[in-house]
Amino acid sequence: MRITILVGTMTGTAQLCAQEMELALDDGEARVEALLMDGLGSGVFERDGVFIICTSTYGQGDVPDNARALYEDLQRKRPDLSRVRYGVFGLGDRTYAETFNYGPKRFDDILTELGATRIGERHQHDASSGVLPEETAVEWCQQWVSKLQEGNRASV
Ligand SMILES: Cc1cc2nc3c(=O)[nH]c(=O)nc-3n(C[C@H](O)[C@H](O)[C@H](O)COP(=O)(O)O)c2cc1C
Repeated sequence: MRITILVGTMTGTAQLCAQEMELALDDGEARVEALLMDGLGSGVFERDGVFIICTSTYGQGDVPDNARALYEDLQRKRPDLSRVRYGVFGLGDRTYAETFNYGPKRFDDILTELGATRIGERHQHDASSGVLPEETAVEWCQQWVSKLQEGNRASV
């Protein structure tokens, strides 16, 4: 199984979470690669395997600067992503009540619109909770892979 983690971050928290997920999941059976979204276009979804979107939220519910090109490319080109399966580990802060976790939500919405299938619930980390996101990320990604495997077994 190949897992690509696409990372949108401003100050590195999402990147840290992605690195922890990469370590937790890369067990020899799964090939895991965390990629910063910088410079990526929608063609990245042509890769084999499944995807984890790991991004924070900035501005007024926007995607981080390094995620903007990829997000806008998806909006502009609208590729058919019906073969794509993905999960979302989102970061935000409930202090921004009106736009809590909107960066990851924007990716979730556009991927669904383009035909991709989300596996599991979108995780919404809250920076004001005091919970360390990198610890939650490990737990979340292990559960996510179990869901993915359950789905694979069911479809055989
Ligand atoms: C200027 C600024 C704007 C932010 N705007 C939002 C927002 O609209 N919604 C939200 O849920 N979180 C918002 N956040 C919180 C970040 O998404 C959160 O702190 C996250 O953990 C940062 O992750 P990063 O270091 O990977 O970028 C904002 C943070 C800053 C500093």
